[in-house]
Amino acid sequence: MQNIAWIDGTYRDLSKAKVSIEDRGYLLGDGVYEVIRVYNSRPFYLDAHLQRFLRSAEAIRLDLPYPVDRITETVSELIEKSGYSEGYIYMQLTRGSAKRDHLFPDDAVPTMVMYVRELKPVPEIDAVEPQEGITLPDERWLNCHIKTTNLLPNLLARQKASEAGAVEAILYRQDGTVTEGTRSNVFAVIDGKVRTHPATNLILAGITRGIVIDIIQELSIPFLEKPFNLQELETAEEVWVTSTTMEVNPIKAIDSRLLKSPVPGPICKQLMEAFHNKIAANCLEDVK
Ligand SMILES: Cc1ncc(COP(=O)(O)O)c(C=O)c1O
Repeated sequence: MQNIAWIDGTYRDLSKAKVSIEDRGYLLGDGVYEVIRVYNSRPFYLDAHLQRFLRSAEAIRLDLPYPVDRITETVSELIEKSGYSEGYIYMQLTRGSAKRDHLFPDDAVPTMVMYVRELKPVPEIDAVEPQEGITLPDERWLNCHIKTTNLLPNLLARQKASEAGAVEAILYRQDGTVTEGTRSNVFAVIDGKVRTHPATNLILAGITRGIVIDIIQELSIPFLEKPFNLQELETAEEVWVTSTTMEVNPIKAIDSRLLKSPVPGPICKQLMEAFHNKIAANCLEDVK
């Protein structure tokens, strides 16, 4: 079993895979990316990730250098070559290598890389440990819907959260509106209704967020895609975060204040179970 990379058509061991130091992804953060979870050697919601990859690339005025079918085939080959059953695919597209300049180069060829790494299998629901969150100002730009490699504000906030013993920083804008986490979307149950920030330019519309919203609708759980603020978050009956690598993760305390237990609460638990069923239906059962 091996971490395998693919750089513009060539497979390599990840430790030996290299791109130019003049690559604009490295010098300028001029690129976009995706992370796709692999369960049971199958990519989970690959099409949705590729659609978002296309939208991100388009938003920074890049064309995908390979057709979506070729990328899909490459993802399968990477998983097969790695031998991993549980893992993730990282995929990145940059504007390529050129003499450093803010202006887009005329001659650069975009660089596309993908690699696969192993992850632990998804834990049983009872083994998922509720985590702590802290609230921090959202200091990012106004195009958070683009999944760009420019992640410094996210990294700084996540680092602060980690140093405070929290798994995630829950970000809020100047007016107190809660947007999302540094690497996740945030849901809260307020007055009996599930709430999450709408998919505007202020958040990344997570693929996991979308799956969870589908489940909420399938189960007819009261839901509002409407922002909530810090005061409302304080009164929340339940809070959880969602992401490709964290799935549905319950939050037990915010800024060291414990939520009205038990955590996970009843709605979160229902969603965690239904999310496991989605994994089973898409990646475990003999389908497709
Ligand atoms: C800022 C941000 N929001 C939300 C998410 C969750 O997105 P997804 O569910 O597609 O992993 C991520 C994932 O990396 C993220 O970076």
